[in-house]
Amino acid sequence: MPSYRDLLQKIRLCFPQPISDRVHDSYFVHSIMRALDQVDALKTEIPILGQTIPNDYAVGQQAKLGPALGSLEKVTEEMVGYLQGMTLSSHPRTQQNVVAPPSIPSLIGVLLASLFNPNLVSDEYSRRVALAEVEVVAMVADLVGFDPAQAGGVFTFGGTGTSLYGVKVGLEKAVPGAMKQGIHGHLVLFASDASHYCRHNIAGWLGLGANQLCTIPTQDDNSIDLVQLADQARQALQAGKKIACFMATIGSTDAFGLDDLQEIVALRDRLVDEFHLSYRPHVHADAVIGWAWSVFRDYSFEANPLGFRLRTVRALAGALRHIRHLQLADSLGVDFHKTGFCPYIASLFLLKDRADFQLLTRDTRDMPYLYQFAEYRPGLFTLETSRGGAGVLAALANLRLLGREGWQTLLGHLVEMAQLLREHLDGHESTTVLNRANFGPVTVFRIYPPGVDTFSIQQREFHDPQARDLLLQHNEYNRRVAAYIHAEALAGRGVMISLTDCYRHTAYGEPIVALKSWIVSPFVDEDSVQVLVRMILEARDHVERNP
Ligand SMILES: Cc1ncc(COP(=O)(O)O)c(C=O)c1O
Repeated sequence: MPSYRDLLQKIRLCFPQPISDRVHDSYFVHSIMRALDQVDALKTEIPILGQTIPNDYAVGQQAKLGPALGSLEKVTEEMVGYLQGMTLSSHPRTQQNVVAPPSIPSLIGVLLASLFNPNLVSDEYSRRVALAEVEVVAMVADLVGFDPAQAGGVFTFGGTGTSLYGVKVGLEKAVPGAMKQGIHGHLVLFASDASHYCRHNIAGWLGLGANQLCTIPTQDDNSIDLVQLADQARQALQAGKKIACFMATIGSTDAFGLDDLQEIVALRDRLVDEFHLSYRPHVHADAVIGWAWSVFRDYSFEANPLGFRLRTVRALAGALRHIRHLQLADSLGVDFHKTGFCPYIASLFLLKDRADFQLLTRDTRDMPYLYQFAEYRPGLFTLETSRGGAGVLAALANLRLLGREGWQTLLGHLVEMAQLLREHLDGHESTTVLNRANFGPVTVFRIYPPGVDTFSIQQREFHDPQARDLLLQHNEYNRRVAAYIHAEALAGRGVMISLTDCYRHTAYGEPIVALKSWIVSPFVDEDSVQVLVRMILEARDHVERNP
């Protein structure tokens, strides 16, 4: 048996060397290159790495720690094996969901942070990476129209985390001291039925109770119904409840629906006066998808210097009508791992007034092991203790790389491709775009059997309870079309898209099943859009031939 010293010597070779060692550096780089080479060998023309191998979870559950030291080379090979079957979000034939293809600088940001493990709990453990966080906060604050001198922000554990922070700040405003004393009285949280489901988690995890969530219906354009919101908010206040938060959605998950933030803020202000509230209910904008469109705030749509097609210009301008009001929110969620082209997780919670973080601050006496030599100490108010720097460096890398123009180019292209898809879908008698009034890179659509009038069917299915059976039949029809497209994509033909089981509920409460193309890869181009349209029609033929 080798002595522990012999083993330690071998193990040390598996770590990057703390003291410069050029020979070992090349071993390290070479090891990464071998991994990348092996990944590259899995790439083909299809949008999947290698093959889809069904996961045997029963075998997985029997995994045990090995008795002896493994080899770096073998482990690398094994790790690469776990990527088999992954969908390539960057592939021109992937239009599946809002999973960002990360840029090279953002990957380098992640690698650098992972190498040295900065911890953003304080600058004692993160040094200049803390400065990077401050810079990203300042850049995004300026981008959305906040005053960078007053704004503050922290990276957190996902889009869900950003909304959790927003609602928590709102909760502390409504019930001062809740952090220490807990919640008393009835509180309510408002969000639309198109808002992300994390609202249920947040209400539950913050102790408000998911039943205190007041979900407001949306209008045809997937924006919150302001009349119902005002009614429900007044009813809640009249019943003596407090408002923990108004959560506005700026870019909904399925449809890129945009709430009218300006009106929500105006409603909040009216309610404060009308009910003489002792607090100002917090308005949080879940802009994890829509924030990036702020790069168009100063774009001249008239002059259109980047040369987008006119339909695209209209779509970008249409989205900006609401997105330009982000500055009115008290806080925002920003996901760089969605429309920021970074790896998971790169989420920023941004406060218009950084003083609001005081509401979450804990006593340093509760944390005696930290902060002795620090100037920047977000750990005093963050939920997390350890916060890694990978998301921060990835985000900063893309902000530096792309600038306003690069981001305009990327987003403009995604919207241009989505508009092209809509143009094609409009050109066929059997397809209907459902989220026509939403101007993002996501297109939700349905396909119908021959003989259906696709000019009127959407309204009929939505409003007329007599059309329930028809709606359900068409739901099934669309599921079958989606299944064919999915199977073909797995087999290497066509395009990977998504299916949503409930784009929205009809007026009489049934879910509308729909197909969804979310274009997020810079590599999507005209031909991949055409391939998708051909595949949709082929899938319909298949379903018709196999009733
Ligand atoms: C609008 C919106 N909000 C929040 C989330 C949750 O983000 P995450 O998955 O990063 O927690 C998503 C995820 O898709 C989303 O689309």
